[in-house]
Amino acid sequence: MSQKVAIVGSGLVGRGWAIAFARGGWDVVLWDPIEGAAAKSLELAGTIATDLAEAGLLLGQEPSTVLARIGVANELAAALDGAAWMQESAPEKLDVKRQLWADLDRTAAPSTILASSTSALVPSSFTEGLPHGQRCLVAHPLNPPHLIPCVELVPAPWTSAETMKRAEEVMNAIGQKPVVMGREIDGFVVNRLQGALMEECFRLVADGFAGPEDCDAAVKHGLALRWSFMGPFETIDLNAPGGIADYIARFQHMYREMHPAQQRRVDWEGDVLPKILEDRRARLPLDKLQERSRWRDRRLMALLRQKQASSKEIGD
Ligand SMILES: NC(=O)c1ccc[n+]([C@@H]2O[C@H](COP(=O)([O-])OP(=O)(O)OC[C@H]3O[C@@H](n4cnc5c(N)ncnc54)[C@H](O)[C@@H]3O)[C@@H](O)[C@H]2O)c1
Repeated sequence: MSQKVAIVGSGLVGRGWAIAFARGGWDVVLWDPIEGAAAKSLELAGTIATDLAEAGLLLGQEPSTVLARIGVANELAAALDGAAWMQESAPEKLDVKRQLWADLDRTAAPSTILASSTSALVPSSFTEGLPHGQRCLVAHPLNPPHLIPCVELVPAPWTSAETMKRAEEVMNAIGQKPVVMGREIDGFVVNRLQGALMEECFRLVADGFAGPEDCDAAVKHGLALRWSFMGPFETIDLNAPGGIADYIARFQHMYREMHPAQQRRVDWEGDVLPKILEDRRARLPLDKLQERSRWRDRRLMALLRQKQASSKEIGD
């Protein structure tokens, strides 16, 4: 049975979601209040679908088959009509989201799950008081959602257990990998983890212990190799002969001794910034950022393909 998703806000992230849902067999309707934005997004989705097909990441489907599932609506009500899921990817401004979510909750049938892509707003901040708050949640993707499967599902205090269960099923069905949170907190999981790592990188550079490139090398040639297929808990479970308890017995003291010095915050815009800018801009001039972003996406596609093949050949 085909299912319909309404994509509300069709910029960078909305477009990625459109491809992810259409690839998973859903009928997709894009809506955007800026005239011509949804049509433009549909056009750009064509290029993405072609790239994905070339990279072997369209589940064996032709780009035309996937793109034929995506349409555009001129009215929000038409986009929401008959939709089982609504994915909102509007600008990250609380007043915009509050107003929009009041409209969404009023217009969508009560059975439609309403999900927001917000990176930094907890769901209670824009769904409080909505008559059908039990079907509202955050489904925060990493960008771009058609290339990075992880999606954080975050409930507001009033989100129902049924909504969370259904959200997990839908995300799994379209090939995303949900992280299901028990309750909301700033930064969700991904940005809290990234924030902890970034804080340490800024401290190491500010205090002259390592340069920006050394921090990058420690991740890309070290930690990230394991982290690209298993997480930090599984990593330490395998890093001591007796598993995680043995790892903790052997190494907790090292982390405990580091911890006090890690409580000092370095201002990312302070004295450390010129050091980082000097290093980064020498390695990548500003006018090469776009070209390098395309390189990143090609590397991501290659990694994803490799991960999918390894999962089949070696197992997860
Ligand atoms: N860019 C990222 O890396 C990233 C990653 C994960 C999540 N997000 C989140 O996704 C959301 C969208 O970000 P983006 O990067 O796609 O932004 P974007 O600027 O590319 O797209 C936003 C779109 O929303 C439209 N819009 C403007 N007002 C609107 C309204 N009132 N209702 C509906 N749509 C409206 C705009 O016309 C535009 O097409 C934000 O909440 C952001 O935090 C972004």
